[in-house]
Amino acid sequence: MTQKKAYDELVSRLREVALLSSCGSVLGWDERTYMPRGGGALRADQLAMISGLMHEKFTDPRIGELLSILEQSDLVGDEDSPEAANIRETRHDYDRYTKLPRELVEELAKTTTLAQGEWVIARKNKDFKHFLPWLEKVLALTVRKAEAYGYEGEPYNALLDNYEKGMTVEQVSATFEILRVELVELLNKIREAPKRPDVSIVEREYDVGRQRIFGESVAQAMGYNFDSGRLDVTTHPFCTGIGPGDTRITTRYNPKRLNDALFGTMHEAGHGLYEMGLEKETYFGTPMGESASLGIHESQSRMWENQVGRSKPFWRHFFPQAQRLFRDSLGGVKLDDFYAAINNVAPSYIRVEADEATYNLHILLRYELERAMVKGDLKPADVPGEWDKRFKDYFGIEVDNVANGCLQDVHWSAGLMGYFPTYSLGNLHSAQFFAKALEDMPDLMDQFEQGIFGNLREWLRKNIHKHGSRYRAGKLCEKVTGKPLSHKPLMDYMYAKFSEIYGF
Ligand code: CO
Repeated sequence: MTQKKAYDELVSRLREVALLSSCGSVLGWDERTYMPRGGGALRADQLAMISGLMHEKFTDPRIGELLSILEQSDLVGDEDSPEAANIRETRHDYDRYTKLPRELVEELAKTTTLAQGEWVIARKNKDFKHFLPWLEKVLALTVRKAEAYGYEGEPYNALLDNYEKGMTVEQVSATFEILRVELVELLNKIREAPKRPDVSIVEREYDVGRQRIFGESVAQAMGYNFDSGRLDVTTHPFCTGIGPGDTRITTRYNPKRLNDALFGTMHEAGHGLYEMGLEKETYFGTPMGESASLGIHESQSRMWENQVGRSKPFWRHFFPQAQRLFRDSLGGVKLDDFYAAINNVAPSYIRVEADEATYNLHILLRYELERAMVKGDLKPADVPGEWDKRFKDYFGIEVDNVANGCLQDVHWSAGLMGYFPTYSLGNLHSAQFFAKALEDMPDLMDQFEQGIFGNLREWLRKNIHKHGSRYRAGKLCEKVTGKPLSHKPLMDYMYAKFSEIYGF
């Protein structure tokens, strides 16, 4: 069999899996936006059938045979070629899928479904003991999963590799450690600073219909293409790249807060631009047509949300429009006061409501605890005590109850250990990429002030989006910025912003 034939067969098999996956995405999008409640049971059956079919097709031994042929061919000669990247990344995923025994996959699916239900009850009753046996079960299965995957160093590496291919705890921890120390220092400076933003400005009446108009016009200015995208309403906002020509985002509106929908929409539109910037016409179904990692995906959303959306030049352009739309709430407000309000920093219990400066501390805390649990250094029973102790150290406030502490996130009950670091990796990458974009385009902030965002978008497309999974995150970062990932660009960016706002 010629290598071309083998490669074509591999691609056509991967496309079939991707088509099934895109059907699942449409159903999943519908489930979270428009499906009537009564459709839940049928939808669960539909999605289970699709994922069963996908699994069957993707773990077909023929894929393994084709990969073995291709790994001996000239196609892998240049490791950065699209063919080599597709072969390498498909091998990675194929091995992952075929290494887990069927019995373990089923046990995990069943246990995490039940555990999520028990977690909801435990959180509602602020009762960690209720959740404890479930956390123990999920942890034991997760450790078995890591063993089945295999790893170097510690078992957490096998889990991290699920979300950030090739990334290790050694790399992550080195960066996170310094980041934590510097963030705690920054928070102390902010706490003792003389100035305080007036957050009540963004907590007034904000008509939902007008919020929608505003959000759409911001997404449009970013370059989110409504001919191949939609913006709908949901409870937990998300972005789904369904396939070529179809990328959808969602948001939720709070009539008494401007920030939620606005920055949520920018965040999801940032994810959407990445999906739209992938070369799916050519590479749909193959790793070259997919994002490099969850962390890189998050870097795109956070950049638009924070580096762009929470910058002053952005608001020099958009504030007059916001004032016209929300005359009663923003009419007499000064731009500087508004800018301070949307950048307010306040340590709080809940991760998903955290500001830019405290957000990463929430992540680092979770990462440290789940890593210790997987390693066997921390017993699930000791999680609340350890959580509260670290929370006090990092944030300077006492946790008042477990619902505001270690029971707040769904991840552990869902078996998603190894996922949390991707959020902070996203923030770190966003700052490092943005610093490089500023270096390449020194007048970028002036462009924002004039409502021009196309040059940033094209820069991202050219340097990041169009490469898909050609490079893994670590290599992509070096290719784009010339340096390995570091805490520095993010800390520099935050110091510049918050020292001005808080006057320290
Ligand atoms: Co995101």
